[in-house]
Amino acid sequence: MAEQYYITTPIYYVNAEPHIGHAYSTIVADTLNRFYTISPTETFFLTGTDEHGDKIVEAAQKSGQSPKEYVDRISGMFRDLWPKLNISYHRFIRTTDKHHQETVRLILSRVKEKGDIYFSEYEGRYCVGCERFYTDRELVDGKCPDHQTEPQVIREANYFFRMSRYQQWLIDHINDHPDFIRPERYRNEVLSFLTEPLEDLCISRPKSRLTWGITLPFDENFVTYVWFDALINYVSALGYPDGDLFRKFWPHAQHLVAKDILKPHGIYWPCMLKSAGIDPYQHLNVHGYWNISDGKMSKSLGNVVRPLDLVDVYGLDPFRYFLLREMVFGLDSAFSEEALVSRLNSDLANDLGNLVSRSLTMVHRFFKGELPEPGVSDEADEELKKSALELIDLYEREMKTLAIHKALMAIWEVIGRLNKYIDSMAPWVLAKSDRERLGTVIFHIFETLRIIGGLLWPFMPGSAEKIQEQLGLSKTGKDLTLPELRRWGGERPVRNIIRAPALFPRVEKDKKEKREKKTDRGDKGKDEQIPGPPLISFEDFQKLDLRIGTIREAGAIPGSRKLIRLKVDIGEERTVVAGLKDHYKEDDLIGTQVVLVVNLAPVKLMGVESRGMLLAAGDKAGLHLVVPDTPALPGARVK
Ligand code: MSP
Repeated sequence: MAEQYYITTPIYYVNAEPHIGHAYSTIVADTLNRFYTISPTETFFLTGTDEHGDKIVEAAQKSGQSPKEYVDRISGMFRDLWPKLNISYHRFIRTTDKHHQETVRLILSRVKEKGDIYFSEYEGRYCVGCERFYTDRELVDGKCPDHQTEPQVIREANYFFRMSRYQQWLIDHINDHPDFIRPERYRNEVLSFLTEPLEDLCISRPKSRLTWGITLPFDENFVTYVWFDALINYVSALGYPDGDLFRKFWPHAQHLVAKDILKPHGIYWPCMLKSAGIDPYQHLNVHGYWNISDGKMSKSLGNVVRPLDLVDVYGLDPFRYFLLREMVFGLDSAFSEEALVSRLNSDLANDLGNLVSRSLTMVHRFFKGELPEPGVSDEADEELKKSALELIDLYEREMKTLAIHKALMAIWEVIGRLNKYIDSMAPWVLAKSDRERLGTVIFHIFETLRIIGGLLWPFMPGSAEKIQEQLGLSKTGKDLTLPELRRWGGERPVRNIIRAPALFPRVEKDKKEKREKKTDRGDKGKDEQIPGPPLISFEDFQKLDLRIGTIREAGAIPGSRKLIRLKVDIGEERTVVAGLKDHYKEDDLIGTQVVLVVNLAPVKLMGVESRGMLLAAGDKAGLHLVVPDTPALPGARVK
């Protein structure tokens, strides 16, 4: 691996619990990190929490805790959330970490030695929300544009960073490196800001006013201004100044932030780095804001959208997919649950889910789960192959320039093509007339799906791995790299191709209302609590005879809205009646392996005798059949 990639998210303030804005940035960083991993590139992904300053002290006081107890608690909420969103970072930094605090003091000393820090009396308008002084020109009707509050007038002696000294250098650097700040609109915003003389930055707070911060190395009576502290996390996390990680990854640093913190990242940070003698970062990637029905999302307005509320109802990958597909990187987006449901039903359940399910069903039905050898390919096959291989190049270009939604659109374009290819090749007709041609078609379907699954991994790691496992591939997830995906026909399945229940069950329209009602009652999840079940003895448990069965036939039962009649192979054939009609299509069930209770007394349902019962789990998303993770022999005992 020749190259490295270093991606950072903002370190989030611990004065509020995580919402979809934080989740978006971190999911984008995770997606990019995964994309570079399969590129393949050696990567480092950093996230964390920003824990000093006025705002934090205020929030701690409100919650009746000491700042330390408070920051430990909220930082823990961020840290606990990320794995639930399948975010896989390398390091979680906290500005209260000892090494970070030492690094801040080291950099302050270096900048001071350089002659870039001076002491001076200052009077200015200070916004506590932003933790910074505002110039008159920045205020709108005398108010902070972000918080709509009038800043306090504060007069005090403080230390200042001679940022003005680096103004021309920064302008030149941005002009010489056109994609230093991207997309272009944010680069232009920074350049336009730099057309006015840059003021020096106040970088201290007297301890008489604030003690919750890092003490200046050259004056015990002051703590460091929160931004001077926070920005340094990007190098302290790598072990600056001597750490191997710093040497290896800093030259490849890319920051990911939203437009709200463009100025500290686009102006303060490069100037700080220059003064400290550290090379500038490589790119600043700036995204827009998620708003709620055209307004801002904020704790005070009470319209904060919590990621796990949505994940609980719609599933993790639909949530990740929606955020990544819906927002044009760099522009604002309005969040709506209706839009999420419609993307889930159309892009995921209909286009992708059906494609995977119908393709795998065909390999099952026509080749008993074994991938056939292809025969001679015709023009339509070649076209499909070309579009799948070209997709990989396009995808790489889009991802590298952060056109994440375009990369997804390109994948869906090929999903559409593959669905059309299946329709026009009609394998079910070929099955009766031309088995060799059928083999070639199935092979092309498999290869295109293999590429689609691989390319989807950065966005929806869980679902992509399921696809890869169902395809029987030996490598999944991060081990399936882009060069390997490019090798058409290069990887035969090592296991039988398996059929599994729908990847993305459709969502009923009224789910959103149900969720809202539940959240209103404040008893979310109550109905999920498992009541203390009566205990049974091991002997009782052993009376149950559970077996693996393969569904061979599935058909309707006249007059029943819910029931399906199944023929299940457990070494012998059993007729079983199951209430699956709302959840599974009869055709999709054929070939699926299930777990069957075989020693239940027979019952008659709608006139059909049922000899056994399938195991399934029920939750808010519907019913999920319990299936073995790899194919097992029909009749195998479940222990
Ligand atoms: N602590 C500072 C960052 C220091 S980085 C050295 C901070 N924290 S924050 O908690 O306010 O996080 C701001 C970041 O959270 C945004 O830049 C963005 O990444 C994310 N978002 C918060 N709200 C958002 C939206 N409504 N929409 C999109 N992202 C948003 O600023």
